[in-house]
Amino acid sequence: MTGSWEQRFADLWQALLPVGRTPAGYRRYSWTPADEACRAWFRAAAQARDLPVETDGNGNLWAWWRAPGADGPAVAVGSHLDSVPDGGAFDGPLGVASAFAALDLLREEDFTPARPVAVAAFTEEEGARFGVACLGSRLLVGAIAPDQAAALRDGDGVSLAQAMTGAGLDPGRLGRDDGRLAGLAAYVELHIEQGSGLDGLGAPVGLADGIWPHGRWRLEFTGRPDHAGTTRLADRHDPMLPFAAAVLAAREAAFRHGGLATIGKVIAEPGAANGISASVSAWLDARAPGQAELDALVADVSHAAHAAALGHGVSMDLRRESFTPAVSFDPALRDRLAGVLGAAAGAPVPVLPTGAGHDAGILASRLPAAMLFVRNPTGVSHAPDEHASEADCLAGVAALATVLADLAGA
Ligand code: GLV
Ligand code: MN
Ligand code: MN
Repeated sequence: MTGSWEQRFADLWQALLPVGRTPAGYRRYSWTPADEACRAWFRAAAQARDLPVETDGNGNLWAWWRAPGADGPAVAVGSHLDSVPDGGAFDGPLGVASAFAALDLLREEDFTPARPVAVAAFTEEEGARFGVACLGSRLLVGAIAPDQAAALRDGDGVSLAQAMTGAGLDPGRLGRDDGRLAGLAAYVELHIEQGSGLDGLGAPVGLADGIWPHGRWRLEFTGRPDHAGTTRLADRHDPMLPFAAAVLAAREAAFRHGGLATIGKVIAEPGAANGISASVSAWLDARAPGQAELDALVADVSHAAHAAALGHGVSMDLRRESFTPAVSFDPALRDRLAGVLGAAAGAPVPVLPTGAGHDAGILASRLPAAMLFVRNPTGVSHAPDEHASEADCLAGVAALATVLADLAGA
């Protein structure tokens, strides 16, 4: 391989940019052709660096740098390659491309790691296809049962087991992998910031403090389909009306409890413009600074949705589909990284909380984990306006290399 680490980062980034891009944004859903193209990009990046790649039983990718004499548990760095529907370019891929580029930087400086170093890409972090966020890391730590995961279905009724089989993987290997976890000393995930905190502070790179507890709940309103032009208002059992009440209740409950609540996905069946719906399915995404606030927020939405359903003669069911408790990243690791990054930058590195979920938050239940954030001047994420400048991306790579040199050094 030739070129500076900066050039190699640019090459990695340019090679990935067209994959899964549509005029509306990125659609890189797990176990689809776009996902396979992302995986091919990962394998090519690893091969160009002589890093052997393995796919674990949960479909997560690992590229290994085992320098001569490297011993003991590994330091892993990485993120994910899948996207939300019509997502931005940076959420996930920035962490994986930066991980490869950080290795390039360290090799350019003739650094020899005393521990194995792994670049990881976790499967289905966004839960965009099968509904459970951080699916690959959740399976790895045993936070979801393998048979439950295998039976998850996408919007077309295809199960995870079927999708993995179609991609040449054995779903019988899904599940907790204690051996792999025992081989890891720490996991560090670099990620674009999903807000404008760093921009406000004038800092290109920051560290994560913790992650709010958050989850997804599915609301099912079942009414009676009928004719839009002939059914008297008094005779209707229209599931759209309690759904609308739930949307407004979510906003009010979020405000009341200092959290966030969003209904961003809704399916009305059968979907006739001139008909009353038979059913409305909606997904509530709720997050709050603490568990008590989150519980109160969801209870308020549930209560309001049930009451509205009753008032309209509609039945209603609310089910939790995915949940992540509050995460407080390992304070010793965070302080250590703050120390080396602050020394390298000649200024303290900001430490920020986030409401966004990450594989690092799932892995934090089993090993020391940390996150680096890269400035996002638009503050927008999960949408095409998500952005980091090239200079800030390179600052992120340099910070990740500093962290790796510290954690994997002699
Ligand atoms: C992941 O990006 C999430 O927090 O939804
Ligand atoms: Mn995301
Ligand atoms: Mn992400």
